[in-house]
Amino acid sequence: MFYQPSRKDHGLPHDPLSACIAPRPIGWISTIDNNGVSNLAPFSFFNGVGYNPPTVMFCPNGRDVNGDFSHTLVNVEQVHDFVVNIATYDLREAMNLTSRQLPPGASEFALAGLTEAPSRCVRAPGVAQSPIRLECRHLQTVHLPSTIPGYPLNIVFGEVVGVHISESVLTDGKVDYGKLRPIARLGYRQFAVIDAVFEMQSETFKYRP
Ligand SMILES: Cc1cc2nc3c(=O)[nH]c(=O)nc-3n(C[C@H](O)[C@H](O)[C@H](O)COP(=O)(O)O)c2cc1C
Repeated sequence: MFYQPSRKDHGLPHDPLSACIAPRPIGWISTIDNNGVSNLAPFSFFNGVGYNPPTVMFCPNGRDVNGDFSHTLVNVEQVHDFVVNIATYDLREAMNLTSRQLPPGASEFALAGLTEAPSRCVRAPGVAQSPIRLECRHLQTVHLPSTIPGYPLNIVFGEVVGVHISESVLTDGKVDYGKLRPIARLGYRQFAVIDAVFEMQSETFKYRP
């Protein structure tokens, strides 16, 4: 089959695009506002961008029921930092709860029974229960035009300036996915958990200095 997203002519019962871009890692992003109120929300339009410096991106798109931008985006623009918490299978329900839109001033940490972990290099706290946390300094936000007027696509870039890895997910000095069990977003209502891993020598590593 072939379709053009602009024409929505896929003829399927559900739009298949997000199912085609899968698995998507979940950036579970914690932020803080200028009044010290924390915020936490998952974003599956999230990924790493490069190593030098280590850089990540995520996309807080859309607006809430009041027409306001995502609290995550508002906080990042105020305080200029955030923490990426890795979402695991054990934390799946808590992660999902934190996608609820709360009024300004309310924190999803309390809603989901999560503990704030103080960060070392940034103001935003992390999720203490998450075994891997990336403290990030805001670099830039890019606003792309969207097909819905007033609803830009927002891409937030951040430099990873601090990395927490719990000993509980390490084996012989390597992150052990069998212990970490990270989850990813698929299409529809589906998610994935990493429970099978295979090894392969990457061709690029053979030629890079
Ligand atoms: C697994 C998952 C992935 C999500 N990914 C995104 C995303 O990439 N971009 C986005 O704008 N919203 C995404 N959402 C919805 C936001 O988490 C939700 O709008 C949230 O209320 C935003 O919170 P905030 O206003 O506190 O920033 C996702 C929700 C879930 C459960």
